[in-house]
Amino acid sequence: PMGWNSWNTFEVNINEDLVKKTADIIVSSGLKDAGYEYIVLDDGWMVKDHRDKNGDLIPDPVKFPHGMKALIDYVHSKGLKFGLYNCAGTQTCAGYPGTRGYEYQDARFYANLGIDFLKYDWCNTNGINATEAYTTMSKALKAAGKPIVFSICEWGDNQPWDWATPVGNLWRISGDIYPCFDCEYKHEEGNWSSWGVLRILEMRKDIRKFSGPDHWNDFDMMEVGNEMTTIEDRSHFAMWCMLASPLIAGNDFRKMKPETLAILTNKNLIAVNQDKLGIQGFKLTVEDGVEVWVKPLSDGAWAVTFLNRTELPKTINFDWKKHPIKDADFGFDADFAKNTYQLQDLWKNKSAGSTKKNFTAAIIAHDVIT
Ligand code: GAL
Repeated sequence: PMGWNSWNTFEVNINEDLVKKTADIIVSSGLKDAGYEYIVLDDGWMVKDHRDKNGDLIPDPVKFPHGMKALIDYVHSKGLKFGLYNCAGTQTCAGYPGTRGYEYQDARFYANLGIDFLKYDWCNTNGINATEAYTTMSKALKAAGKPIVFSICEWGDNQPWDWATPVGNLWRISGDIYPCFDCEYKHEEGNWSSWGVLRILEMRKDIRKFSGPDHWNDFDMMEVGNEMTTIEDRSHFAMWCMLASPLIAGNDFRKMKPETLAILTNKNLIAVNQDKLGIQGFKLTVEDGVEVWVKPLSDGAWAVTFLNRTELPKTINFDWKKHPIKDADFGFDADFAKNTYQLQDLWKNKSAGSTKKNFTAAIIAHDVIT
């Protein structure tokens, strides 16, 4: 899935006008043409503390004065899709009514509203079993009869890659992202951290084999356009493309700089992300602090990204012939000593020689070449 989610920038400060403007901009800016489709309202869309007399969730009438249905209809009228958020526990993370004990009722509520996507979080779950809780909600959504993408968000704590393929369509593999390239942000309240781009990139080992079409490892909503440099945003985006992660933007489209839009809509990189094999890339090697990531593509090509994760400019001098690729998880390989591949620079959108010669380039700190 590709789209936008309110949380990274707005947290619970969401409203009707924001969603409508976001939908308008997705269409007018070219984001829709680039593939961004889902508008997802995260935590904070409900009235706090209670349900209505029938036990239904209540969309906040102050934030959404014309009602949730009218807003969803508006988003649909733009040719886009709409998502909502809740939690498997008794309350959401921000303290709104949770779904525990209301799974079938809430699923019917969402189906009647016509939503297309449900993000289902894991706060206030007090020891319940994650596989069972997510399976119950998955069955409830199916029973409600409206196809709804089911986005599992238990931060990778219960190894969803082991059990969630028949349950959901994407599952978070980490705690929350933070808009920094390589930091851990320790929250003052509670014993938890949010994580920079490189931290999430390295968080799990050996789970790429579990990711694929309709059951994705989700590296979290993007922070492109938030607090990192343009170079870091580029690298963040390139890596999410290499990882075949869902591309859910998390910035304020109303204040987006042209360079942010250019990153988010880069067609070459999006083609790598959306490639129909749906294989998550992996780290092939590291040379002098520059990582080399590779991802097999459906047309027999490979996407290759050089990532300079150091604080220094580096010079790449990469001998392809010394680096055959073997993808043991999916059975793809490339032997550059035997076969020559033509190179295409996806950011510059121009050819870059072939694998016959060493690939040489200067790469500044935190940058990528794909
Ligand atoms: C977290 C989740 C975030 C966001 C937040 C809302 O648990 O990982 O992505 O949804 O809750 O309160």
